[in-house]
Amino acid sequence: MQDTTISIRAQQSDEPLKIEGDLLNQRAWRMPDLIIYQHGPEEWWVSPLDEDLPLIQLNRMGASLLGAMDGHSTLAALVSRFGKWVCGPNQETGQWFLERWAQPRYSLCFYGSEAPSGHSTEAKWDLLLQRVREGWHGNVAEETEGHLSKFHMQGIQTQHGHFEIIETTVSHLFREPCEALHGLTYGRLLGQTLRKMGWLTPRPTRIVEVGAGLGYVSKELAGELRDDERQHIHYTFLDLTRPFLGSQTSLARSAGWNASATQANAEHLPFTDGSVDLIIDNENLADMTPVHLTANELESHEGTTPQHQGALDLIRRLHLPLDKPFPNEVIFNYGALSFLMEVWRVLKPGGHAIMIEFGIETGYPEPVKLPGHTEYEVQYSHMRHAARGLGFREQYCPLPQLLNISGDTQVLCTGAAYAIRRICESLDTPFSVRAYTQDELKQSLGDILPKLTGLHYHSVLDPAWFGLWDFKALMLEKPGAKIHRPQYQESKGFRWYSQR
Ligand SMILES: C[S@@+](CC[C@H](N)C(=O)[O-])C[C@H]1O[C@@H](n2cnc3c(N)ncnc32)[C@H](O)[C@@H]1O
Repeated sequence: MQDTTISIRAQQSDEPLKIEGDLLNQRAWRMPDLIIYQHGPEEWWVSPLDEDLPLIQLNRMGASLLGAMDGHSTLAALVSRFGKWVCGPNQETGQWFLERWAQPRYSLCFYGSEAPSGHSTEAKWDLLLQRVREGWHGNVAEETEGHLSKFHMQGIQTQHGHFEIIETTVSHLFREPCEALHGLTYGRLLGQTLRKMGWLTPRPTRIVEVGAGLGYVSKELAGELRDDERQHIHYTFLDLTRPFLGSQTSLARSAGWNASATQANAEHLPFTDGSVDLIIDNENLADMTPVHLTANELESHEGTTPQHQGALDLIRRLHLPLDKPFPNEVIFNYGALSFLMEVWRVLKPGGHAIMIEFGIETGYPEPVKLPGHTEYEVQYSHMRHAARGLGFREQYCPLPQLLNISGDTQVLCTGAAYAIRRICESLDTPFSVRAYTQDELKQSLGDILPKLTGLHYHSVLDPAWFGLWDFKALMLEKPGAKIHRPQYQESKGFRWYSQR
């Protein structure tokens, strides 16, 4: 990846580019995963990266301009061929589009001396888009250690579209039955897995789901238990985002759970000691408080703020094996580890917890920038070490392994799903972002499908699709359950069991 070229193109300014000087000698490439919708015999639509920009409508000349961005034409050639002609129904000229389409908020094409992609597995276009998003959201500087709780408490005003636009999760992509999950939904498959692990026997009486989003996992998990089994279980949601609580309880109740919800921070669970049988925490650890510790603080064990001191005390108390030499500054998953301690406290002996999130096993967490907020990779070696230190029995594996996800299934590129959602919105046709196979997309789109070009599919386990291998599952059991051993009497060397 040529950083210099990218930084030129991914500049944060919204100013139209001046197509002059050296730029005229550069070549133009259309984004490889661009979805083009043909609305009529003389009208085509494309979707810019930024949701706040309107869809771009093109006439035949505009569509030809897009088609000519194939890495062969220089900007000089494009300007001379299309510059003065009207390319859109709103009288935009080719020049007008050329000045904007390479801008981060549009991200429809790239100008440079060489293509930003070599081999598809290098995913360089993805990296380019990632940088573009980072630059455009430009949210790094303001992000304090408390920004994540502030974002969830105040920044999310409505559940509408949150998981379609701002942060799409694995469970959201698989909320409908999908071939890749053996024809099941994510929540149902997770439920089956918990049953196989023996976590639903004896039947839990209190399940807590932390950070449940809209509540699809609970809805699907319900199908794994009989009505009479569910009647004796209380399902509690705990979430920092108030607007999500309504959807959580309503989906769960309609699925047959006896459910309630509370707004709270999982780093301080509002439950009494030893009161919960099962905790489900799906894609939430990366949202918990990060602490940025300096090498100085780590070496001296003296924190510059009370929160940093708390983090350093926790590192010492849990004997966390931090990699040395310390970099100048490291991110430490303080919130996730505090939550782990809370899970230990509130679980009953014999209770279980599952924590699923993207993460790493060595080094220090990196930030992952999303619209409006930044999340942090979870350092799972630290989590596992801490879990064992607390006394948990732990198991750990990548999510695809836990759910036995079949890599044979091909699913629609998520970027394409986002673009189709926007196009369908303009057509007043319902369409939601999820993991579509070709047949599923055909069923969903009907007549619209043949009007779309640029659709491409990935193997569900291809890192270029959603990076499922980056997601890990940590499974915990708090020892000390009462074991109901059958009673027996010995007589002449034989044991005679009774099931009393
Ligand atoms: C990425 S979403 C995952 C939602 C859902 N589990 C899914 O898989 O689609 C993170 C969820 O955790 C909640 N959350 C974030 N930080 C939290 C915290 N510190 N305590 C409790 N909930 C939190 C968010 O409001 C949201 O519901």
